[in-house]
Amino acid sequence: MANANPTVWFIAGAKRGVGFEMVSQLLQSPFNVVIGACRTPANANALNTLAGASQNRLHVLALDITDAATITAAAAQSEALVGNAGVDHLVNNAAVLKARRHRSFDARRLPQNPGDNDTAATMTAEDMMAAFQANVVGPALIAQALSPVLARSGRKAIVKISSSMGSVAARHFPDNYKASYAISKAALTMLTGKLADAYPDLTVISMCPGWLQTDMGGSGAAFPVSTGVEGILNVTRELKHDDSGSFFDFTGKRVPW
Ligand SMILES: NC(=O)c1ccc[n+]([C@@H]2O[C@H](COP(=O)([O-])OP(=O)(O)OC[C@H]3O[C@@H](n4cnc5c(N)ncnc54)[C@H](OP(=O)(O)O)[C@@H]3O)[C@@H](O)[C@H]2O)c1
Repeated sequence: MANANPTVWFIAGAKRGVGFEMVSQLLQSPFNVVIGACRTPANANALNTLAGASQNRLHVLALDITDAATITAAAAQSEALVGNAGVDHLVNNAAVLKARRHRSFDARRLPQNPGDNDTAATMTAEDMMAAFQANVVGPALIAQALSPVLARSGRKAIVKISSSMGSVAARHFPDNYKASYAISKAALTMLTGKLADAYPDLTVISMCPGWLQTDMGGSGAAFPVSTGVEGILNVTRELKHDDSGSFFDFTGKRVPW
């Protein structure tokens, strides 16, 4: 690694959106080393370009958050890369908003925007299972797999990128839509609390990045992705161990569960 005592970040879902912006901003400091994990490194062109120019400060690994074997392999590769220095921050960023439809699914039966039809009254088992697999099971397995290498680091922090849509207190806003996603993010908040209890030496939090202009947030979202990511990184750098189990937004305000 380039710097003798770098701060090491593991970003899950680094290919585009919030994850890619996070990698880009982190590389602006020579003190950061980043492991950028993504589903298919072979077609992560922008990420590979960043890695090529990073002077060995960005390492691109394969990781599919729905595939336990790739999670185990990525943890082993990270261990080999960082050795005793450990990984200071794990950011569980990758997530899905709606299910990828099975081939047998009849798209002609879908309304114009299937995301908007994902209410508690209409969501399918497929929607719910896909959201839970990617947004809850994946982050749980990644935290388990990386916990030994996190424990050896200076910062020992896990940041779960969640959403205020997963806040039970805010469930009526903006409407009862994207229900399977919202339910999975509520479960992610409980996972954060359970991980904080299971790993008392680590600092584990959830964070809402704000409504951001990404593929998921859409071009009409409230903020450019850079604003949310700056906020996430500022809050993460200021974390104290007593914050473990908490849910923040990107300005550092606590979000009600
Ligand atoms: N954008 C918003 O307004 C907003 C608001 C609240 C919360 N969030 C949260 O912020 C995080 C990032 O969202 P985003 O807006 O950047 O979403 P996005 O633009 O849809 O990007 C999602 C990222 O997750 C990756 N991903 C999805 N499934 C994966 C899998 N099975 N294995 C590995 N990677 C996978 C994608 O990689 P591929 O390219 O391989 O698909 C992509 O890099 C999510 O946790 C989201 O819930 C976003």
